[in-house]
Amino acid sequence: MAKKKTDNAHKATNQHGAGMDKIVALCKRRGFVYPSSEIYGGLSATWDYGPLGVELKRNIQNLWWREMTRRHDNIVGLDAAILMHPRTWEASGHVDNFSDPLIDCKDCKARYRADHLEPEIVASRKCPACGGEMTQPRNFNLMFTTTLGAMETSGMQLYLRPETAQGIFVNFKNVVDTNRVSIPFGIAQVGKAFRNEITTRNFIFRTCEFEQMEMQYFVKPGTEDEFFAYWKEERLRWYVEQLGIERDNLRTEPHGPDALAHYAKEACDIEYRYPHGWEEMEGIHSRTDYDLSRHGEFCGKEIQYLDPQTQERYVPYVVETSSGLTRAVLVTLLDAYREQPLENGDVRTVLRFHPNVAPYRVAVLPLMKKDGLVEIATELKRDLEEDYNVFYDQQGSIGKRYRRMDEIGTPFCITVDPQTKTDNSVTLRLRDSMEQRRIPLSEVADAIRLESRNYQARA
Ligand code: GAP
Repeated sequence: MAKKKTDNAHKATNQHGAGMDKIVALCKRRGFVYPSSEIYGGLSATWDYGPLGVELKRNIQNLWWREMTRRHDNIVGLDAAILMHPRTWEASGHVDNFSDPLIDCKDCKARYRADHLEPEIVASRKCPACGGEMTQPRNFNLMFTTTLGAMETSGMQLYLRPETAQGIFVNFKNVVDTNRVSIPFGIAQVGKAFRNEITTRNFIFRTCEFEQMEMQYFVKPGTEDEFFAYWKEERLRWYVEQLGIERDNLRTEPHGPDALAHYAKEACDIEYRYPHGWEEMEGIHSRTDYDLSRHGEFCGKEIQYLDPQTQERYVPYVVETSSGLTRAVLVTLLDAYREQPLENGDVRTVLRFHPNVAPYRVAVLPLMKKDGLVEIATELKRDLEEDYNVFYDQQGSIGKRYRRMDEIGTPFCITVDPQTKTDNSVTLRLRDSMEQRRIPLSEVADAIRLESRNYQARA
């Protein structure tokens, strides 16, 4: 719920010059992301993830889940419902505070976010599009509503959750009572969130339906600063080491006092250098005891933690890490995109994904469809797909097949050729260097594991 003005005065592309238009076109062409409901003319607020996009998104989600719940003994998972009791959102402050100031043009009906317009334009109340008269800024709540029950009139009005975090807070006691957790500990959750954003733009950067990966870390009051610093570093490291994002394209930006959300004592964003400038990809928030105290107040029963050692009772403080999964998909694509001139004058488009996130880890390519090569390749594919998502392709020249794999970011290709039949060796082709190496068929799985583990940040 960050209310932070971003400083886009120094608009930049990342150093590889990946513009959003190229990413959008590639995503459509190769089946990563499609415009939503396209056959009806599309809906700009939402996007659909195609066969490659869903693999990429799932890989990122699984890496995050593994990082949080497996690599930290004191973090457990949760999957709360999207529809929650409406009191949740009164307690959380979303009903009163989760709004954008909007201005409408009375003539051309254009709608603007007041905080996205120059102050002089807001003051003059003249529409930047048509020069017509504009309304005063009015607060517009970002939560979508829906009705529970068969009757439109007597049903209960609910909200589609605008963040996953509240599902964690309302289950705090359930988790403490049913699991052996003790403070400090975290609860992690991945799921859909919905915001009625007025300015959806920049592809999947800001959409009305998106996914979040959130973790609420419950700590003893007084220790929150230490954990805030810890999680800021941890999360930055994760993007570099696990997703392979270039460190130079990331920075952390503290929120100034004017930009803090109503619940936050301290907050910072992990920002990425998008083609449209530096903007947020994850928020780290020191939320104090705001949420648990408010839920305690609203449900009529204080939510406290009993320290088993000291028998001390207190309302824990919370340090939150709140990452956008769909935004991480965009960042991963932008950061990986390269156009490389080749010696023969061609330009190859390559997505230099970290092997961890690539939709396909490996492609198996029989050089020809005859002489028993298909059978060997098919068996190899079956072996490898126990561990990896494997692409199989026997169509076209081998050069064209490599290019197709480069464009969707497959880090390794294995080519089965006539020599395989004589000495049981295959060619391992590396996407980034285009190096080709002969290796024994029996060592393919090990080679892929080793190359993946040793994968270095890209040049
Ligand atoms: N629970 C705290 C919270 O929701 P936030 O800063 O409003 O904090 C966290 O959102 C992250 O969710 C953002 O850093 C961003 O990655 C993602 N996010 C927020 N609104 C989004 C939108 N409309 N479209 C895509 N991602 C969004």
